[in-house]
Amino acid sequence: MYNLKQKSLLGLLLVPLAVAAVEEARDTSFDKFVYIDPLIGTINGGHVFPGATLPFGMAKAVADTNNPNENQGGFASDDSEITGFSHMHDSGTGGAPSLGNFPIFPQTGCRDDNITNCFFSEADRAVKRKKDTTFAKPGYFAVTLETGIRTQITVSNHSVLYSIEFPYKANTTELKNQTGLPYSPLILVDLTDLPDSIRDGGVQVDPKTGRQTGHGTFSPSFGMGSYQLYFCIDFKGAEVRDTGVWQYGKPLPKPANGTTPKLEDWRFPAGGWTQFHPPAENNQILARVGVSFISIDKACKNAETEIPDFDFAKVQTAATNAWRDKLSVVEIEEGQIGTRFWTVFWSGIYRSMISPQDYTGENPLWNSTEPYYDSYYCIWDSFRSIHPLLTILDPESQTLMVRSLIDIYRHEGKLPDCRMSLCQGWTQGGSNADVVLADAYLKNIKDGVDWETGYKAVVSDAEEDPPNWSVAGRGGLEDWKTKGFIPKNENYDTRSVSRTVEYAYNDFCIAEMSKRLGHPDDAEKYYKRSQNWMNLYKADQTSIVPNSNGHEGTSVDPGFIGFLQPKHANGSWAYQDPFRCSPLLGFTSCYLNGDGGETYEGSAWMYTFYVPQDMATLIKTLGGPESFVDRLSYLHTSGLLYIGDEQAFLPVFQFHYAGRPGLSSYFSHFYIPSQFNESLNGIPGNDDSGAMGSFSTLAMIGLYPVAGQNVYLINAPYLPSVSITNRQTGKKATIKSINFDPGFKNIYIQSAKLNGEEYTKNWIGHEFWLDGGVLELTLGSTESKWGTKPEDLPPSLSTGQGS
Ligand SMILES: *[C@@H]1O[C@H](CO)[C@@H](O)[C@H](O)[C@H]1NC(C)=O
Ligand SMILES: *[C@@H]1O[C@H](CO)[C@@H](O)[C@H](O)[C@H]1NC(C)=O
Ligand SMILES: *[C@@H]1O[C@H](CO)[C@@H](O)[C@H](O)[C@H]1NC(C)=O
Ligand SMILES: *[C@@H]1O[C@H](CO)[C@@H](O)[C@H](O)[C@H]1NC(C)=O
Ligand SMILES: *[C@@H]1O[C@H](CO)[C@@H](O)[C@H](O)[C@H]1NC(C)=O
Ligand SMILES: *[C@@H]1O[C@H](CO)[C@@H](O)[C@H](O)[C@H]1NC(C)=O
Ligand SMILES: *[C@@H]1O[C@H](CO)[C@@H](O)[C@H](O)[C@H]1NC(C)=O
Ligand SMILES: *[C@@H]1O[C@H](CO)[C@@H](O)[C@H](O)[C@H]1NC(C)=O
Ligand SMILES: *[C@@H]1O[C@H](CO)[C@@H](O)[C@H](O)[C@H]1NC(C)=O
Repeated sequence: MYNLKQKSLLGLLLVPLAVAAVEEARDTSFDKFVYIDPLIGTINGGHVFPGATLPFGMAKAVADTNNPNENQGGFASDDSEITGFSHMHDSGTGGAPSLGNFPIFPQTGCRDDNITNCFFSEADRAVKRKKDTTFAKPGYFAVTLETGIRTQITVSNHSVLYSIEFPYKANTTELKNQTGLPYSPLILVDLTDLPDSIRDGGVQVDPKTGRQTGHGTFSPSFGMGSYQLYFCIDFKGAEVRDTGVWQYGKPLPKPANGTTPKLEDWRFPAGGWTQFHPPAENNQILARVGVSFISIDKACKNAETEIPDFDFAKVQTAATNAWRDKLSVVEIEEGQIGTRFWTVFWSGIYRSMISPQDYTGENPLWNSTEPYYDSYYCIWDSFRSIHPLLTILDPESQTLMVRSLIDIYRHEGKLPDCRMSLCQGWTQGGSNADVVLADAYLKNIKDGVDWETGYKAVVSDAEEDPPNWSVAGRGGLEDWKTKGFIPKNENYDTRSVSRTVEYAYNDFCIAEMSKRLGHPDDAEKYYKRSQNWMNLYKADQTSIVPNSNGHEGTSVDPGFIGFLQPKHANGSWAYQDPFRCSPLLGFTSCYLNGDGGETYEGSAWMYTFYVPQDMATLIKTLGGPESFVDRLSYLHTSGLLYIGDEQAFLPVFQFHYAGRPGLSSYFSHFYIPSQFNESLNGIPGNDDSGAMGSFSTLAMIGLYPVAGQNVYLINAPYLPSVSITNRQTGKKATIKSINFDPGFKNIYIQSAKLNGEEYTKNWIGHEFWLDGGVLELTLGSTESKWGTKPEDLPPSLSTGQGS
């Protein structure tokens, strides 16, 4: 998915192949956390959540900022103001900002010690951060506000611990500044979320303990419906002085009997507040926040059981250990050259493990003994690289996610294509959970997975029209079955071309499962349907490169003929400029709403390459390997392809199918590090829950997965040696580069050995990860003959290898 608000696209086109400076070896003792920068992607539209979270944790806490173009993940590394600290987020999303419910906000005191002088509304309380005070690492986030208040954050699975340090010594007499700000901290909670979607809610504040509890009904950020969320906030470190509730930016008067009003069904903005006497020690107040989708009681219980003693160091250590455990399967030899890109590598892994989020035990929608994961945001983005990377690094979590997807089908009747906050998200193309399931099925994901039901789920996608194809399944199945393509709707654009090629690939993935699960008739049917992409291939379609003003004035015909085109229902051709929806023509017009074109977030030029099931036939169709290589190179060099959107990932490596694996390595280096690097702006588009991060990490490992197939395309790695231990088998797989060159001149594989034996295929299966072994790649500075023969090429349906 890609955010409409993104700008400065043309700036990132035509970037020359970067040659990195040779690095000195870094000889600090090796700590992977040194190479994880959670702040990468927190400007330039990356929308990364950089706060404290456990791997796949539900609690995700960070300071929320108020730049609406950048705060999708809460925090942005810009000069915007901070409006609060909230406890749940999504990372990298392109739609509206997500979650950010019930922010708390601390103040040192209220002027003249008068509660009405404290700042309650979001606009009033917003304050800039102090420069260079932001610090993030796995499980931890900290920032200092211009008011001098420093907040440190750590988390457990469903709870957050904030350590809030006020900028004063504990002597109240000394504390008053000239204008008389007294030392009597106030911490408020605001019944809102980042997109301001609250429509119903309430808050209570206990006058004795200061405990704040409440709930709200909110809208999902890229989907339909609503969800309810509950919170429970406890404090430690200072005596409670006073409590209350506020509305429209002012504290509400108290009832005459002095109690804190218990208010429900608020009008917003509104919230609660607790005021304290000066903290007992270290000018610090701890705020512990439990969240739950079930009830206030559950929110309190989550916090009480997960963080019983408010011990910040202990909670942080547990979070650190959880991350260290996840990272422990990956090893890089210490003291090696080329460390500059380790930050890209490790941070990519880190960001791939932020979502989906484990909401097991927190699902109010149905009772089940199966796990429940949420924030599949969106599978259209994540099926290509995130889930394949998780299958390598964390097959146990991938297994739970697959089980959870199947359980969603069981209870809602369809697999999700996108899902967040317990709601169905918008479907962007085909039913790509089919790819996730097939990929998992082929790669030994099986513990506790009910594959019978999993198979029913994917067949349902292929056979039964969903009740509302905006949010599940595939629309237009009748046409799909009878005509073999999705026709153009004459009244509005429906992404008919991109849906057709995605449906075809989805059917291929189902066929692979059919065959192995003992349904040969289904297999035949779905392999056949997987060829439907051809029905929209218009062999005589030309394309004229638009000049910078669109099609007026001089324009060039690059000479490529034959593109996907839309068709009317009667079978006659419709027309969409093959360049449309690319950065060269109408790029930001092809989204879900409005006149979105027949190709979603990309051009017919690009979608013409989306035949991962049968690249051999595509190459033949496009005029043979040479012509295909010219065309694919042109896609990359002409400015047609935007690498910040996920459909661009696979075309980087498709040269393998034309016998030119060296060009895949070349184009991999064309984009990394120039577009994927360790800067704050170091990802080219929305991270989409880690899609960009997993892409760069997989590319750097040197084995790029063709999602939905048991195929990894072998490329020159960015690391001299990397080993991954499989958590299912305990076996270690190592990829070694001989002649590794950190200046990236040696980016062409000259020869390969697998466990000492010559290996000539330019791809390898998942068995490598399961069985372990050593893949040794000898690199050189020019393209070689390695992996170029017909028998070396990756499988294609038509060559019989894949079926
Ligand atoms: C607090 O400030 C408000 C608004 O300025 C004022 O009306 C009120 O009298 C003040 N309260 C006290 C106790 O001074
Ligand atoms: C978080 O939840 C997971 C899954 O239930 C569990 O394995 C893990 O131990 C929990 N982590 C912490 C730090 O509590
Ligand atoms: C607090 O500061 C004032 C002014 O400096 C001083 O007179 C007083 O003794 C201090 N109190 C304590 C408890 O240190
Ligand atoms: C003193 O308090 C006022 C009112 O809160 C604030 O605007 C000002 O910045 C503070 N001055 C110092 C030196 O902290
Ligand atoms: C205090 O007054 C409020 C408002 O009149 C009332 O709702 C509440 O029940 C009272 N509480 C007690 C403990 O008397
Ligand atoms: C789940 O089970 C509990 C206990 O039997 C019941 O109260 C609740 O209504 C059930 N929830 C749903 C969504 O069926
Ligand atoms: C179907 O989805 C659309 C959004 O495209 C939504 O407006 C509509 O309410 C949904 N219909 C039903 C029956 O849920
Ligand atoms: C097919 O349908 C399109 C759109 O309705 C129409 O413009 C065209 O004339 C039709 N072609 C034939 C051959 O009927
Ligand atoms: C890092 O990546 C960003 C985003 O793709 C790009 O704009 C920037 O130029 C890159 N920086 C370097 C130093 O290559």
